[in-house]
Amino acid sequence: MVIKKIAVLFSGAGSNLEKILEKVHGKTFATCKIEVVKLISNNPNALGIQKAKAFGLPTTVIDHKKFDSREAFDTELVRILKQSDLDLVVLAGFMRILSSVFTQNIRAINLHPSLLPLFKGGNAIEESFKSSMRVGGVSVHFVSDELDGGEIIAQKCFAKTKEMSLEAFEQKIHSIEHELLPQTIIQILDKEEK
Ligand code: GRF
Repeated sequence: MVIKKIAVLFSGAGSNLEKILEKVHGKTFATCKIEVVKLISNNPNALGIQKAKAFGLPTTVIDHKKFDSREAFDTELVRILKQSDLDLVVLAGFMRILSSVFTQNIRAINLHPSLLPLFKGGNAIEESFKSSMRVGGVSVHFVSDELDGGEIIAQKCFAKTKEMSLEAFEQKIHSIEHELLPQTIIQILDKEEK
């Protein structure tokens, strides 16, 4: 059985990380077994670190505040990632803008809480909630030099009702994220040849 290795990068609560660990890590699919072999957070206080620990997995902390520039941080990130023979890097709530030092060297996917190319950036949930659109949604895309601008791999939308509060809208987005990101990781890795 081919083993596909992934790294997950996160910055905060780590609910998406937790779903990857529950639904993907150590599981066997049609053509491969997928293992999370590296976890990295830029935030030493990220709650996700405790969630990973519950699965017996340590997190490497690379604190961006200790680096003089975005490029210096990205160089260290790439160095650590290259130590493992990875098939894919997954950004699951990793709240850093990545420079070409990262994007030119690492094949990565990112989760974004809107229907891209609409509502790029850090305020996507609120902007899509306040917009005139009657749907909200979630995207998974390849990471490129353009923020939230790489090739879209998967999307899912839902109806935004008139009665829906921002909290309910946000909750719906997170519940879709928790399905879509694990599914997309499996979809990418389970059909690729090693
Ligand atoms: C998600 O909404 C993701 O789309 C965004 O950050 C959030 C991360 O949540 N980029 P969590 O840390 O996985 O709970």
